[in-house]
Amino acid sequence: MASDTHNEIWSRLNDLPQPTLAQLFDADADRVAKLSQRFEFEIPGHGTNGMLLDWSKTHLDDDVLSAFEELVEASGFGAARDAMFDGGIVNPTEGRPATHGAMRGSGTETQVEEAEALLARMGMLVEAIHQGALGEVKHLIHIGIGGSALGPDLAVDALTRDLALVDVHVVSNIDGLALEQAFAGCDPHATLIAVASKTFTTTETMTNAASALKWLADEGVTDPTGRVIALTANPERAVEWGVDETRILPFPESVGGRYSLWSSIGFPVAMAVGMDDFRAFLAGAHAIDTHFRDTEGRANAPLLAAFADQYYTRVRGCQTRAVFAYDERLALFPDYLQQLEMESNGKSVTADGNPVSGPTAPVTWGGVGTDAQHAVFQLLHQGTHLIPVDFIASIAPGDELDPAHHKALLMNCLAQGAALMAGQHSDDPARSYEGDRPSAIFLVDDLDPAMLGALIAFHEHRTFANAVLMGINPFDQFGVELGKSIAKQLDSGEGQFDPSTTALMEAAGLL
Ligand code: F6P
Repeated sequence: MASDTHNEIWSRLNDLPQPTLAQLFDADADRVAKLSQRFEFEIPGHGTNGMLLDWSKTHLDDDVLSAFEELVEASGFGAARDAMFDGGIVNPTEGRPATHGAMRGSGTETQVEEAEALLARMGMLVEAIHQGALGEVKHLIHIGIGGSALGPDLAVDALTRDLALVDVHVVSNIDGLALEQAFAGCDPHATLIAVASKTFTTTETMTNAASALKWLADEGVTDPTGRVIALTANPERAVEWGVDETRILPFPESVGGRYSLWSSIGFPVAMAVGMDDFRAFLAGAHAIDTHFRDTEGRANAPLLAAFADQYYTRVRGCQTRAVFAYDERLALFPDYLQQLEMESNGKSVTADGNPVSGPTAPVTWGGVGTDAQHAVFQLLHQGTHLIPVDFIASIAPGDELDPAHHKALLMNCLAQGAALMAGQHSDDPARSYEGDRPSAIFLVDDLDPAMLGALIAFHEHRTFANAVLMGINPFDQFGVELGKSIAKQLDSGEGQFDPSTTALMEAAGLL
């Protein structure tokens, strides 16, 4: 991957002058127009929605962008993107395609047909349950972890602030407190259990699922396994575990865990919002797929975002990037992005196994505005780390209170971006803000299901674009295996451990 062309482009990028944001704005009266973009998409039955993206408060300029466009060519970005949408092997270490796009209509004809059939099957089950086929269902405990939980948790939380057709509790942690808390909020005789696991082998999920069945049995539910819906790419394993085939919603092996919200892993979302809104969620993602697939260079918005990511990580040495949603409904978005970005691109070798030529994924972190302003923004404004920030806000409010609430929310969001950039001089160093700190914004018209789908798909493609520019495989995650295997060894009492771990095992009463 690190060819002479790449090295030449990176050294050029590193040697380019680094004007301040103020200088960049002074030098180009069209800067806002050049680095902003408005998308609009229409979802039949759901109207038109749109988002304004503004990357003008980042240090991207023509020279930087041109160099990145050369890097796009040198990295074979177009071919990699085609391969992803065409079902090529884009996950070489596991010999798999990555067909999450097909789940929302962006893939080969065969994959899309297969996905539609799986979606239709899920839709029939969701609608049958809503109509009472499994008796009274007021609650759904969704058990999964990582990609089998973070997406459902985000989407249910974001889309059901006003109304949920079914009360969904997402449980991931093996800490029994998490499951107990869900039990406390559910009537066992009106509860379904969704067991969500691509592999159907993950320790946390299978332990929690077994405990949920025991809870149902202890509470006098006659056929606990009859209350389970399995969401998995390993249906055979779910059958072995005792789930009836009619209640297994499969998805293809080629859909990665952290990209699986669009598949049957989205079942709790469909249960909570209904199939019509779930389809709108998929359609919003599809609109971004189309843009990402058909647009070249800096006009491709997820690719442009990846240029900024690469620039800050590799040229300016930023080790983290922060995301602040000025919207309570997106409180879980930073958690979701952490897995998407850090599990995908937190790598040290390229797709062909060679050491990477520079830093890979930064640490993704964030929170909700305005809360974060009163907690962590001090460091953003005056700390010694340069941290690129993304803001997300919705023009339409999520609440129905006095519009003063929403107005203040939006004003605060915009004020933070302005303050980070402008800074303020004071003769008192403690009161001085150096400014020139970058931010970008997603200003959406309305955070409806389609827009949520669009935002998530945008970040999937941004993550993929970053990976291609770095030459790494974003679709494997071998780094998570070692800890799992050591936990198993500790559990079985086999193996030799370091003195610290052995002493801690003794102290915890585990030996
Ligand atoms: O351990 C990491 C991981 O494999 C994630 O990639 C995945 O999303 C999660 O565990 C859960 O896996 P599964 O869906 O197979 O239970």
